[in-house]
Amino acid sequence: MVCLGNICRSPMAQGAMEAAAGRYGLKLTVDSAGTSGFHRGESPDQRAILCMSGHGIDISAQRARQLQHNDFREFDIIFVMDRSNLRDVINMCPDDKQTAEKIIMLRGFSALEKDRIVPDPYYGKKHDFEKVYQLVTEAAEYHVQKWLSR
Ligand code: 4NP
Repeated sequence: MVCLGNICRSPMAQGAMEAAAGRYGLKLTVDSAGTSGFHRGESPDQRAILCMSGHGIDISAQRARQLQHNDFREFDIIFVMDRSNLRDVINMCPDDKQTAEKIIMLRGFSALEKDRIVPDPYYGKKHDFEKVYQLVTEAAEYHVQKWLSR
């Protein structure tokens, strides 16, 4: 799961994906990273931790890190939150088709254009974090169901 700072959206998306996998007994390795290293080593934003704990998911042990080249080898899918993340991750990606195909917008499946991104809540309020929770949870459920149906 990749966003800009790795302290709001992607830690929440990691928590939501781990929870969704757990609901269906699906074994997944989920991690998150930022395109930037601004918050390297930090815990998730307190508002993100609080929002997720309100939904029974503990993300407090996560620590921010920057996306690294090795991640493109290590992971099968690199989910991004918005188009700016998509551009940045494509720019970092090794130049081969198979690897480039790993990069996916987490909510790219949405029929509604406006719901294809997870908006950055950093300058927002509690409500904006709740919206992120809903968007990443729905997406996690969607992808887990899709993998299970294969
Ligand atoms: P995130 O949110 O990308 O969802 O972790 C942000 C966190 C920090 C900053 C921007 C976005 N920042 O500019 O410090």
